[in-house]
Amino acid sequence: MSSVDEIKARLDILDIVSEDVQLKKSGRHYMGYCPFHNNTRSPAFAVFPESGTWKCFGACADGGDIFSYVMKKNGWDFKEALTQLAARAGVTLEKLSPEQAQRKSLEEEQTELLEAAADYFHQLYLYAPQAKHAREYIAGRELTDETVSTFKIGFGLNAWDALRSHFMNQGYSEQDLLDAGLLTENTDKGTTYDRFRNRIIIPIKDHNGRTVGFGARTLEKDGIPKYLNSPQTGLFDKSRILFGLDASKRFIREARQAVIVEGYMDVIMAWQGGFRNVVAQMGTALTRDQLQLLKKYTKRFVIALDADAAGVNATMRSLTVARETLDRDSEIRFDPSGLVREESRLSADIRIASIPEGEDPDSIIRNDPAEWAKLIGGAKPVVEYVTSVLIEQMPIDDPKNKSTIAQQVIPMILDINDPLERDHYWQFLARTLQVEERSLRQLNIKQQRKNSGQRPVVQAKSKQPAMPEPPPTIDGRPNGGIPDPTQRTKRRETEFLGRCAHNPLLIRQVNKILSDNGQAILHAQDFSIQIDREIFLLINNKQSSGEVATSGQMWDSLDEVLAERLKVISKETINSDKKPSRSLALSVLQWRAEKKKQLLTEFQQMLRTAKFNGENQSLEALAQQVESLSVEIKEIDHAKMGISSRSKHRYAHKW
Ligand code: UTP
Ligand code: MN
Repeated sequence: MSSVDEIKARLDILDIVSEDVQLKKSGRHYMGYCPFHNNTRSPAFAVFPESGTWKCFGACADGGDIFSYVMKKNGWDFKEALTQLAARAGVTLEKLSPEQAQRKSLEEEQTELLEAAADYFHQLYLYAPQAKHAREYIAGRELTDETVSTFKIGFGLNAWDALRSHFMNQGYSEQDLLDAGLLTENTDKGTTYDRFRNRIIIPIKDHNGRTVGFGARTLEKDGIPKYLNSPQTGLFDKSRILFGLDASKRFIREARQAVIVEGYMDVIMAWQGGFRNVVAQMGTALTRDQLQLLKKYTKRFVIALDADAAGVNATMRSLTVARETLDRDSEIRFDPSGLVREESRLSADIRIASIPEGEDPDSIIRNDPAEWAKLIGGAKPVVEYVTSVLIEQMPIDDPKNKSTIAQQVIPMILDINDPLERDHYWQFLARTLQVEERSLRQLNIKQQRKNSGQRPVVQAKSKQPAMPEPPPTIDGRPNGGIPDPTQRTKRRETEFLGRCAHNPLLIRQVNKILSDNGQAILHAQDFSIQIDREIFLLINNKQSSGEVATSGQMWDSLDEVLAERLKVISKETINSDKKPSRSLALSVLQWRAEKKKQLLTEFQQMLRTAKFNGENQSLEALAQQVESLSVEIKEIDHAKMGISSRSKHRYAHKW
């Protein structure tokens, strides 16, 4: 895979765009207000997750892939975009040092082995006679076959040397298995043995869906530990992983809320019950790394930890981490281009769901999914939760405790965005502590003077208006397709670039034909993906500066990434006919027309929806768009006819 493809595979365009645009699902694509032009009336900006592209239907009428997006958004050139996105995706662009290359291939080998191990455990679970009790246990917990297969639930045989010999027979070394955390070493005897014995095995994936470790539940009553996890390896670091996130991230974004639970089984049962925006922090308090991961998808969290002492502790610690992590985001910092900017305050909304004592999400959902929905819906803002926990620990008949509690709770009140809600909690705290609200607020003033370094929390004005519900699809046809280019369009673009890379003068010839027939000359935006736009510009600059470079020469001067793409293009073009410039010009018009037709269909759809909803202000603009697109398509068709009739004349034998 090329670096560009790898970056695209690892990054989700929805994540990137969601940082600036509030997106709402609408059929196969997502809609929001365009961040590039003044767009507040009706959402004109579409993202197509399947093709990793975006398109503005409105004033700026631009579109492209993630590279085009971040370039336009940040004013970067391609190189900057490449560097930034590569870093974000964890893709190394420079040649790896031998050491790095070794580590990378080791990691790849390790995930491969872990995936093979997950399959091995899963097969044993499904079919091994020795796993009968494991299957009975899972049946007792009411997991369906579908759930078992979705989470690839497995079983480790009750033996010291089953996995070890299985994989060593397949050519893995003992060291491979040790490194992957599948074996345990007896350092005294210098021997190794299977780590996961007679346990239910739950594969753990990172947010990209790579298997990185296992959680293994004992099947013995009061077996210790209850869950034996993979040891910390380069790949598996519990504090950086949220169980379930790879599958739930889409749902978190859709629901605009993430529910955080304690354990594996809680996530699995929630999924089975249809609650899919759920992740587990695997027993400990939420870490900063976990929160960083999560807040890419939403700023609204519901913490639903167990009600036992450990759960309360974990919740309190999670809250501290959350506040610290979110606070950090409000600092003024330097962006990569060296400009000072003030990060907008992250207006996170953290709530606590109170799980009844003795229950956990798994048991609640199993008994009554509606009960769970109610608990999550009724989750309380942190203020109430923290106040009640603190009062439990520090009875308020001691006046000193009142002050201590107030000191801890007031910052949380100041965090609340909504002024009415904030007022409500001032009153709440005053009432609960049985003090005057006025004295509380005075305390607050004193507190702020004391640590003047700490800025009071100010509410950031939301940059965009709230999203209205997306328009319904009247005829049930899935929306989408733009600028999601068809395979045929992509092939035409690639072939064109391939030909021009060979012979840059073709661009000039094609441009002449286009303009002779009243059509716009070639433009970078004619190409669907950013890297092809870059390649086009490069070839075009060469030919217009009179320098005629062959592709061979050009490769030397190109960045490695561009060269990589050019190689692919050339390979794809190598066997195609050497077309004359006329048929290349026709091909350009053909793909332009295809894209415009896709766009037209989309506009017509939007027009119908607008009529249906009585959105009169957008009717006119849309009708205008439809009108001008239809004209443009007609003009292209006309030009096509002109060109091909002349070429029929000239190249009669070819047609
Ligand atoms: P719990 O003890 O609440 O277990 O630990 P649970 O999730 O309810 O498990 P079941 O329902 O009895 O099977 C919560 C989470 O803490 C981590 C696991 O991620 C577990 O799901 N944990 C717990 C461990 O990693 N090791 C342990 O020994 C116990
Ligand atoms: Mn449980």
